[in-house]
Amino acid sequence: MANSQRKILVTSALPYANGPIHLGHMLEYIQTDIWSRFQKLRGHECHYICADDAHGTPIMLKAQQMGIAPEEMIAQVQKEHEKDFADFNIQFDNFHSTHSEENRELANEIYLKLRDAGYIKTKTISQLFDPEKLMFLPDRFVKGTCPKCKSEDQYGDNCDNCGATYSTTDLLNPYSAVSGATPIMKDTEHFFFDLPAFEGMLLEWIQSGSLQQEMANKLKEWFEQGLQQWDISRDSPYFGFEIPDAPGKFFYVWLDAPIGYMGSFKNLCDKRDDLNFDDFWSKDSTAEVYHFIGKDIVYFHSLFWPAMLEGAGLRKPTSVYAHGYVTVNGAKMSKSKGTFIKARTYLDNLDPEYLRYYYAAKLSSKIDDLDLNLEDFAQRVNSDLVGKLVNLASRTAGFISKRFDGKLADVTDKSLSEMFIAKQETIANLYETREFGKAMREIMALADTANAYVADAAPWQLIKDEAKQEEAHQVCSNALNLFRILVTYLKPVLPKLAQDVEAFLQMELTWNNLDVDLAGHEIAKFKALMQRIEMKSIEAIIDASTENLQVTKDVEAPKVEEVQTELEKEPLAAEISFDDFAKIDLRIALISKAEHIEKANKLLRLELDLGGEIKQVFAGIKSAYAPEDLVGKHTVMVANLAPRKMKFGESEGMVLAAGPGGKDIWILEPHAGAKPGMRVM
Ligand code: 2FM
Ligand code: ZN
Repeated sequence: MANSQRKILVTSALPYANGPIHLGHMLEYIQTDIWSRFQKLRGHECHYICADDAHGTPIMLKAQQMGIAPEEMIAQVQKEHEKDFADFNIQFDNFHSTHSEENRELANEIYLKLRDAGYIKTKTISQLFDPEKLMFLPDRFVKGTCPKCKSEDQYGDNCDNCGATYSTTDLLNPYSAVSGATPIMKDTEHFFFDLPAFEGMLLEWIQSGSLQQEMANKLKEWFEQGLQQWDISRDSPYFGFEIPDAPGKFFYVWLDAPIGYMGSFKNLCDKRDDLNFDDFWSKDSTAEVYHFIGKDIVYFHSLFWPAMLEGAGLRKPTSVYAHGYVTVNGAKMSKSKGTFIKARTYLDNLDPEYLRYYYAAKLSSKIDDLDLNLEDFAQRVNSDLVGKLVNLASRTAGFISKRFDGKLADVTDKSLSEMFIAKQETIANLYETREFGKAMREIMALADTANAYVADAAPWQLIKDEAKQEEAHQVCSNALNLFRILVTYLKPVLPKLAQDVEAFLQMELTWNNLDVDLAGHEIAKFKALMQRIEMKSIEAIIDASTENLQVTKDVEAPKVEEVQTELEKEPLAAEISFDDFAKIDLRIALISKAEHIEKANKLLRLELDLGGEIKQVFAGIKSAYAPEDLVGKHTVMVANLAPRKMKFGESEGMVLAAGPGGKDIWILEPHAGAKPGMRVM
C-alpha cells in the first residue's frame, strides 16, 4: 500500500422517513458508496454511516393522516429504505434512525454544552397558529392568495403562478393546509443558536481549502448577507426530542439531523469492540470525516453544523462534498412524464449496477446537475459494460475451459498488463478526488485497447490451427488477465459484477493484487455476467412511474405535487391497408458515398446507388456511424418517397435502419445475393 492506513468516516444525507427513495436520492448514495468502497478496496479503515431522518412536522402529520403513531410509520419506512439501499448494493456500515436513544443523548449533550457556553438565546416571536389544530404552522402548511398576481391556493412563501416570493404574513386570505382554518398570529418563545458568534471561525474554515470552490463562493455570498441567529426550537405538538430544560419545546428537526450522523456512528461503536467514538469526534481526532450532500442543504452542513460542533468542543468535518440534482431526459423529474422514478420501480425492472455505472460515468467533483437521459443510459451501459467489458471475457473464457482444462497460461508478453497496472495511481487519484466520470473514461480506454488486442489476435482463428494452440492459450489468458485488472478498477462501482467475476476467476480482486501472477491458475466455467438493457424495460419503468401518480396528495412535499398532463409518448401510427403498404417501393441500395454536413447534429448526406440510379438522402444516423464506415454497406431504401426539401438540400428517399437510437442503429451488411436496385419483398 502506497499510503499508510487512514481512518475515515463518511456519510450521506439522511433521508426523511416519510417517503420512498427515488433515483434523485440514489445519486448521492451511489456516489458515496463508490467512494467508500474505493477507500476500503485500497485498504483504508472507512465507515459509511447513515440513518433515517425521522423528526419534524411533516412526519408527524403524515403519520396522523395514516392513522398510526409516528414511531410505527418511521419504522415501516426505515425498513423500506434499508431494503432499497441494500438492493442497490449500497454498503452502509450502519443505518440507524435519528429517533434513537443515542441521538437523543448526543443532541442533549451538544445542546447543553452550547447553552452553557452562552450560544443559546431566547426570543419571543409571533407566528401563524392554527386555532383548530392548536399548532403553529410551518410556512409550507399555510396557503392563500398570492399578494401579487392574486392567484389562489399558493404556498406560504412563494407563488407557483407568478414566481413571487413573500413572507407568509403577506398572503391574502390565508388558510391552514392542515385544517382549512384561518390562522391567527400568536406569540411564542423560541430558542436560537448564535451562529454569528462563529463568523470568524467559519470564515477561516471555509478558506482552509477543503471545500469545493463553488461551495466556498456560495458561502461568501451568505457571509456578505450577514449570518443570522438560527431558530432551533419548535412548540408542541411536534415529533422530535423535547429540549431538556424546556418542557413543551422541541428541537427543530434540523438540529438533531446532523447529530444523527454521530448517533448512528455511536450505535455502531456500541456494537463493535474495535471502534471508539471519540477517536472520530473528539476535538483532537486525527480521523477524517466527510459528508456527501445535495446542493440544497449546503447551508446546514457548512455553517450551522461546523458551528455547532465547534461550540460544543468537538471536531469539524474534514470536508463537505455537495453534488447537483438529477434531471431525467433533460428536465426536472416529473410524475406526469413518468420520470419521477422510485428506487423500487427501477429495481423491479433493471439491474442496479447499470445505474451505478451510468451515474459514475457522469459524476465529477463539481456541483453540476446530472442528466439521466434514458436512451443514453441504455446505450452507454450496453456499449461500455456489455460491449466492451464483459465481451472481453465472453470471447475468450470458453476456449480456456474447453481447450486448456480451465487453466491460464504463463503469459510471456506482459506489455499490456504492465501498461494497465501502471494506470493504477491515475485511476486511484480520480476516485479519491471524486472524478468518477474521468476514472470511467480511463478504464474504458483500457477496455478498448484490450478489445483491439483480442480482435487483432483473433483467438477464434488461432484455435482452428493445430500449430497455434499455444498462441491461442496465450491470447485468451492475457485477455482474461486484462479483464481482471479492469474489473478490479471497477469494483467500487460494480460490486455485484466484481463478485461474480471473483467466482469465475476463483480469486479475490483487490487493489493490492493487481499484479498477481496467474500462470497455471484455474478458473471456473464462464457464465453470462450481464445482459444488455432492453428499451422495453425502460418503457416499463416509465409506465409504472406514470401510474404511480394516482397517489393521494403528500403532506410532506406539497410543492412537488404535479397535475397529470398528457402522456408524452409516441402513439403507434394508424393502421394501413395492404394496398397502402404495397405502394411502398423498398429497394436494396448500395451506399456509394457518405459525408458529414456542416452544422448538422444528426444527419449525414448519403448517395445511394440503386443499380445505376443515384439518389441523395439525408439520414439521421450520425450518432451510430462515421461516414467512412458506411461506404460500401447496403441499406433498405424507400425509393419512391416524394422528394422533400430539407435544411441542407433535397432528400430523395428514406433509409431504413433498426435500433433504439444513439450508437445502436443498424443497417445491412452487404450480401453477395443482394444487388443494388433489387426490390425488397
Ligand atoms: O434534506 C433532507 O432530505 C434531510 N433529511 C437531510 C438531512 S442530512 C443530515 F443533516 F442529517
Ligand atoms: Zn402570484
